[in-house]
This record gives sequence, structure tokens and C-alpha cells, in this order.
Amino acid sequence: MKKKGLWAIILAACLLFAGCGRSDPKGENAAPDNSTWAPVQTDTTAAETTASESDSGDQNQPEQNTEAGAGENESVSGYPEFDFENKTVTLNSGYEMPILGIGTYALSDTQAENSVYWALKAGFRLIDTARIYGNEAGVGRGLQRAIDEGIVSREEVFITTKMWTSDFDNGDAAVDASLQRLGVDYIDLMILHHSQPRNDVDAYQAMERAVEAGKLKSIGLSNYYEPEDFDRLVNAATILPALLQNETHPYHQSGVMKDHIAQYGTILESWFPLGGRGNTQTLFSDETISAIASAHGVSSAQVIIRWHLQAGNICIPGSSNEQHIIEDYDVWDFELTEEEMAQMTALEKDERFADY
Ligand SMILES: NC(=O)c1ccc[n+]([C@@H]2O[C@H](COP(=O)([O-])OP(=O)(O)OC[C@H]3O[C@@H](n4cnc5c(N)ncnc54)[C@H](OP(=O)(O)O)[C@@H]3O)[C@@H](O)[C@H]2O)c1
Repeated sequence: MKKKGLWAIILAACLLFAGCGRSDPKGENAAPDNSTWAPVQTDTTAAETTASESDSGDQNQPEQNTEAGAGENESVSGYPEFDFENKTVTLNSGYEMPILGIGTYALSDTQAENSVYWALKAGFRLIDTARIYGNEAGVGRGLQRAIDEGIVSREEVFITTKMWTSDFDNGDAAVDASLQRLGVDYIDLMILHHSQPRNDVDAYQAMERAVEAGKLKSIGLSNYYEPEDFDRLVNAATILPALLQNETHPYHQSGVMKDHIAQYGTILESWFPLGGRGNTQTLFSDETISAIASAHGVSSAQVIIRWHLQAGNICIPGSSNEQHIIEDYDVWDFELTEEEMAQMTALEKDERFADY
């Protein structure tokens, strides 16, 4: 995925000097010499203008210039805007990320290989896996199959993986092991799988080193459900988390965390977007969701995915079924109305399906 270039330097400088409205008790993040904070869009118009300027200006720049991101020292500005035309969003790291991806939780290594291959064939360009799923190697094989068949190039695909909690004391090795299992020489996004106050800062700092080394492009967090917990990590970080992946669906819309992370330009990604295996029928048969699906002549799964995207949540439905995968990517030709979005918002129950 391509990195937006110089467009936000000026914006960042302004925001940094303005103090960014961000609490930083240690002062470590005020304006570190080697800061790796990166560009974020504040306003669509400005972002579009500067992005296109940067596209032309960046043509001779290396694609994987993480050091350039470090030098830019961009800062906080608000929740990133989705680009529906390109089906991407620009992260606060400056990298573009697809807004709809394939999830691979609970898939065997072989299932993951097939799902990833089918997903890339269907148009997906974002893959979500994790060390603890035990299928990074399968994901890598699915990707390689699609590359070998000319469906995608490595650069067109955005790979996310997660560092598991038992690896937090050995974060540098965990990054290298994921790279090796995936069979790639860089990972687009690595996130800490769960909050673990004992040593998650150490693990995060290992990911920061990996960004400096060009092994990771962006880094982020998963399963941080309290603003204070998120800030605990942010206040010890040099690179802002680009993304927070939390359980999010119509019955648990993550409004508090989403509002909170906006100040850092961090984006929300929904896991269990359809409710999770074994729970999907609860959401699929919800009367509001079914009625909206009938009105558009689409499935409940498609309505839910479309809701995530229009709400500004990166969405990664998991599937081991090729027809479902094709259906899950076929969400670009209809749009939920404002009223339908309001009806979906009203489904909030603050009810999680997972107990972790
Ligand atoms: N960070 C974390 O702690 C965490 C936790 C859980 C998940 N995740 C990530 O988030 C991803 C999504 O979550 P998830 O996979 O657990 O749950 P999910 O996407 O909410 O639901 C997956 C279920 O939906 C079904 N499904 C998918 N598309 C469908 C369609 N069009 N019609 C009918 N059924 C459909 C799948 O069945 P079929 O296989 O039959 O299609 C599967 O049973 C995961 O795969 C994983 O990458 C992260």
C-alpha cells in the first residue's frame, strides 16, 4: 500500500505547536527528535488536495520509506475519513489501508490459505491474521498463490497480524517470527493482541523498533476497552497507534473508544463484525437489519458490513466459504440512507458476544 508523502508536514507542524490537546504527563511525546508520528487528515478537502499534490511529488520516493514517516512527525487531528472510491483510508502513519478485509480467526492453516486466495480473487486487499490463530503460514501461501497467478502484487495487499501476549517479553523475535511464517519481508500492520499492563509497553516498543527497521509499516492495538488503558500505552509510545481493533458490531458499537481515539487520528477496526461464529444469526435475523436488507435486495451480512463502512469502522468479516467471501465484498453498489444508519445506531445494546 502506498504512503502519502509530504502533504501533511505543514499541518503536523501546526498541530504540534498547538499542543494537540493531548495529555502527555511524561512529556515524551511532545516533539521527540526521532518521532515517528505521522500524517493524519483533519479535513477532507484539505486532505484530498494535499494527497494529490503529494502523489505527484512522491513519485521518486521509495515506497517503503518508514524513515520519512518518522521525520514528518505528524500529529493528532481527528477520526480519519474513508475514501469510498478507492476503498481505503489513510492511517495516521501515512499509509493507505483498505477499509474492508478478510478475517481468518478460527480458520485452519489450509482454510486460511483458501480463504485468503478466494478473498484476493474476489477483490479484498486486506487480510487479518494473528500469531495465535496458527495460520500465518497458510495466509502467506494464499497470498503467494494469488501473486503467482497475477491476481495481486505484494504491494497491493495489506497484511495485518497480531503479537500474542505470551510473546510480549520477546517482541523483537515475535516480529521476526511472524515475518518468517507469513513469508514476507515487511508487514503492513502489526497490533498487540490484548492489553497486558505488565509488559505491553515493552512489546509496543519492540514494534516501534521494527518500524524503524522497515519490518513493520504501521503499528496499533487490539482489545483496549478503556480510554485510560489506551492512554497508558499511548503515553509511553513514540509512534501513535494507527488502529484499534476491538469487538464491534451493531449491538456493541464502541462509541466511547471511537470518540476517544479520534484525538490521536487512530482508526477503529471491528472484530466480530457480524457477531462472530455461532452468533451471526442473532444479528442476521434482527428485524431492523432484515428489513433494511429486504429494502436493498441484499443480505443481512451485506447490510452489516455496509453499516460498518459508512460508520467509519474498518471491517474484516471472517469466512471459510467462497460464496460468502464473494458476497461480503459485494457491498459497493448500495448505500444505507441516513435514516437507515440512524436505525442501525439505535440497535446499540452495549452487548458483547465474546467474554474476553
Ligand atoms: N483482535 C481480536 O481479539 C479478534 C477476535 C476475534 C476476531 N478477530 C478478527 O476479526 C475477524 C472477524 O471476526 P470473526 O471471523 O471471528 O467473526 P465474524 O466475521 O463476525 O463472523 C464470522 C462468521 O460469519 C459467517 N459469515 C461470513 N460471511 C457470511 C455471509 N455472507 N453469510 C453468512 N455467514 C457469513 C462465517 O461463516 P462461514 O465461514 O461459513 O462463511 C462465520 O461463521 C476474525 O476473522 C479475525 O481476523 C480479532
